[in-house]
Amino acid sequence: MCGIIGIIGKAPVTPLLVDALKRLEYRGYDSAGIATLVNGHIDRRRAEGKLVNLEARLAAEPLTGTIGIGHTRWATHGKPSERNAHPIATDRVAVVHNGIIENFQELKAEMEAEGRRFDSDTDTEVVAQLITSYLERQMAPEQAMGTAMARLRGAFALAVLFSGRHDLLMGARRGSSLAVGYGDGEMYIGTDALALAPFTKRVSYLEDEDWVVLTQNGAKVYQGTQEVVREVRQSGISGAMIGKGNHRHFMLKEIHEQPAVIGDTLHSYLDPATRTVTLPALPVDWAKVSRLTMTACGTAFYACMVAKYWFEQLARLPVEVEVASELRYREPPMPKDGVCIAVSQSGETVDTLAAIRYAKAHGQTILAVVNVPESAIARDSHGVLPTLAGPEIGVASTKAFTTQLTVLLCAAIAAGRARGTLSEVDEAKIGLALIELPALVNEALNLEEQYRRISEEILAEARDVLYLGRGTSFPIALEGALKLKEISYIHAEGYAAGEMKHGPIALIDELVPVVVVAPSDAIFDKTASNFEQVKARGGKLVLISDATGVARLGSQAAASVTLPAVDPLLAPILYTVPVQLLAYYTALAKGTDVDQPRNLAKSVTVE
Ligand code: F6R
Repeated sequence: MCGIIGIIGKAPVTPLLVDALKRLEYRGYDSAGIATLVNGHIDRRRAEGKLVNLEARLAAEPLTGTIGIGHTRWATHGKPSERNAHPIATDRVAVVHNGIIENFQELKAEMEAEGRRFDSDTDTEVVAQLITSYLERQMAPEQAMGTAMARLRGAFALAVLFSGRHDLLMGARRGSSLAVGYGDGEMYIGTDALALAPFTKRVSYLEDEDWVVLTQNGAKVYQGTQEVVREVRQSGISGAMIGKGNHRHFMLKEIHEQPAVIGDTLHSYLDPATRTVTLPALPVDWAKVSRLTMTACGTAFYACMVAKYWFEQLARLPVEVEVASELRYREPPMPKDGVCIAVSQSGETVDTLAAIRYAKAHGQTILAVVNVPESAIARDSHGVLPTLAGPEIGVASTKAFTTQLTVLLCAAIAAGRARGTLSEVDEAKIGLALIELPALVNEALNLEEQYRRISEEILAEARDVLYLGRGTSFPIALEGALKLKEISYIHAEGYAAGEMKHGPIALIDELVPVVVVAPSDAIFDKTASNFEQVKARGGKLVLISDATGVARLGSQAAASVTLPAVDPLLAPILYTVPVQLLAYYTALAKGTDVDQPRNLAKSVTVE
């Protein structure tokens, strides 16, 4: 969602704030702004659209000052416009906010009745106006902040600048993430360690309900009126992780990182010598688990769909999967001795967080598969299974997905062993296949010219595209369709191949490309029949298979991609690569903004 940054230091802060906003822009990019103190007064520059517009505004009207805050926005309340861009300010304070103030209408009405005038359509303005009203009642900033926090409902991470106070910056957190960075005579507050990375590696993470007072030389953190200590840690994020390297887009860089990050992830779960899996210590006895519930959103949900097959097959464990935004409101009964796995790249997704809170309240042991170990979802869980994908900046998730699959397969193997449903020999066989996986993913990446040609010649011309798959290839078909929609804006749907004949086949004509994800596994023949059904109705088929599958069906396809042979269990990880690159090259052909597609943002911290 939105990204926030605040700096209190000795040097002019505007260039530093802009630099940090560049690293946060992936979170939201419909407007941006910064505010500093100039001779004690709040001054700000804001611009609708991407950060470059704000940079142009600053070039025309520079902003001085050694203390300031900045924001990059994904609009929730109030359309994207300069008027609604943050920082939202009064004459006393400027505020940047990530999250939603749920009772803003009630607070706004109350303050308007008192004669306060609002200048924006944002929920954030009630925070600025509330703090201002308390300051006007002679409260000190600290008291005004605490009193305002107590009146707010919803989720927020806030940074607040006070007019006349060059020595003070404040922050607060409920629900949305917020980190404090410790520099040398300079202090920082920001959404995540990524934003702070070039400034400092010494970072502490605020907990829910914390509020923090920053001066140039340090930070004091409070819960209510009680001062608390938050450990200062060394962040492992380096400058190299947050650049594009030699790639044109973050998405392409992240797709190409997959052999390495799958390898890194496997390194911490799989012993190459014994080919056995070891999970981190978890409060779960798999042998006693009665049911597994898996929940997530978007791409992470498709990882759960694949994992359902794995847990059922390898561990003979009953599995329910459900998107978090539905699970949280459905009030499903949850069994004794049940485990709930939440999957999330960011670890911040608010629906997923709410779903695990429901499951926890209903007696489930919660495990989190997350890419950000300090995240809210990780902290709310009983055990964490980290993915080692490194920072994912491209809005469309790629390497996070394949590392989620890698971790989930390892978890299913461990569960199978503990439940006595997976033999040592079979575990070693899968272990060997996993060791070879990064090299196979690399081979799939080497077919880039083929993906480019199919994208340019077939997909980019289409108005609608269908993706078909069976078994674990069904979620990969869904993922392929989601990737294409997200970054090329072409309408696409994923279907279980066997469902085609129950309706969607009516859509088939020579203008609708159909991408068939079909490794030659035990159900290949069934998918082959669906392939023939589409062919018979004039459909333009793109086949993604291996040498055996392409030998069998390739001559009937408009185009085909031949992937290396792989153990069918691991096929969904390998077969993700082509659907990612087909979406990427189609978007490139259409000239869309690959890393920052319209209307989207990374980390969905609102409902
Ligand atoms: C799609 C995509 C989203 C996310 C979803 C969940 O490319 O990135 O569908 O997968 O918003 O996000 P996380 O994994 O951060 O919970």
